[in-house]
Amino acid sequence: MPTLDTLTTYAKSTGFIYQGSEIYGGLANTWDYGPLGSLLKNNIKKAWIQRFQREFPNNVLLDSGILLNSNVWKASGHIGGFSDPLTECESCHQRFRADNMIHEHDSKVNPDGWTFVQMDDYIKTHQLACPNCQKKAFMPIRAFNMMFQTYQGVVLEKANQIYLRPETAQGIFINFKNIQRTTRNKLPFGVCQVGKAFRNEITPGNFVFRTREFEQMEMEFFVKPGTELEWFDYWKKACKDFLLDLGVNETHLKLEDHEKEALAHYSNATTDILYQFPWGFDELWGIASRTDFDLNAHQEHSKENLSYLDPETNERYVPYVIEPSVGVERLVLTFLNESLVDETLESEEIRTVLKIHPALSPYKVAILPLIKKLHKDQAFEIYQQLSKSFDVTYDDTQNIGKRYRRQDAIGTYFCITVDHETELDQAVTVRHRDTMQQERIKIEALESYISKLIQF
Ligand code: GAP
Repeated sequence: MPTLDTLTTYAKSTGFIYQGSEIYGGLANTWDYGPLGSLLKNNIKKAWIQRFQREFPNNVLLDSGILLNSNVWKASGHIGGFSDPLTECESCHQRFRADNMIHEHDSKVNPDGWTFVQMDDYIKTHQLACPNCQKKAFMPIRAFNMMFQTYQGVVLEKANQIYLRPETAQGIFINFKNIQRTTRNKLPFGVCQVGKAFRNEITPGNFVFRTREFEQMEMEFFVKPGTELEWFDYWKKACKDFLLDLGVNETHLKLEDHEKEALAHYSNATTDILYQFPWGFDELWGIASRTDFDLNAHQEHSKENLSYLDPETNERYVPYVIEPSVGVERLVLTFLNESLVDETLESEEIRTVLKIHPALSPYKVAILPLIKKLHKDQAFEIYQQLSKSFDVTYDDTQNIGKRYRRQDAIGTYFCITVDHETELDQAVTVRHRDTMQQERIKIEALESYISKLIQF
């Protein structure tokens, strides 16, 4: 498996991920997704939408605002409680997340649910040192709210203060009634949303793993109370299957059920899917059974009735909710980490290959004219034909071997070579990324041939 440094260097040099604001010296912990990274992110989102929305009857999409009425965040508890325990070194004044410091000191200790006093005591009794200056004295822990604030309109006053959303989920809850009314969907059904979220994290880091601006893919699956734990198991399995089906090795995954005492007050079951990142197992995907907490809270604060009339039993109730929530960037890191390999060939040559699932490959096909002068026109015709259906790239520089290696390194699933035979037999050589096997395929059959082999 690659190291985090290898992944970072690879992602920057190939055009997956660049340092944010680079020509101005950068902006710490911000990243821009380049030509390949943008395609990879799109493919991850497409696969998620396919699995979680399209393939499940009654599941629908939503694209709600990043800016919401501030009362949404009062009702959801984010204004009062969306905070991390912040501690500050008395010497160098660097700030850290106290819970992370404790967990990093002893990975068997999980401070979720501890009070600040318990964390302060632990840091003192175990003599934890400042990760920056190694001194051992810290200020008392305080709550640090992670929501980014901004102002709407032209006057910077408290009344105009609004927030960038720290999760996409609340946009779904506040639209439950709209969606149920307009789709007339019966329970159970899910609402899926992909979009940006913003958190002023105290300690961002590990490349794109923890950043202040990121994309979430969240589904709120509304169910009849009493059936939620069955659905919780169903979606937990669906999340794991999604990862396995896209090529993640099962031994790199761990499902961690939250202990009863560590559950958030609104949840009656929560599981984190952990992935073996280069620094160890860490959270990739959270699946929570959130009861009727959110809809009840919005019902109370907005005074709108958010209950559901069950047409089968004539009962009226506030639905319970199962929420699988995952960050797109954490999946980018997962799939790059799983797929990037240096392979030693029979010739002893090393080839770097991104053996990523073809549905996620930034380019499905590279079109390569064997000799630029002779085969360029026909190659370009094939490019135009296939680019209507797939992400295709074109490369006519350097010898064919070098071009194959370049495409292998960025995960392109097929290389199509146009040569002197092509004009005569209306066929091309198709080379497979993983096996390097080649076969001759008629131009007219290319589209269906490729479609079949890249399906997810
Ligand atoms: N609505 C529930 C929710 O937001 P969360 O555990 O805070 O739950 C869900 O976030 C997922 O979003 C995480 O499992 C992770 O994949 C991603 N995520 C959260 N914070 C992130 C950050 N600062 N940077 C990148 N991804 C993040």
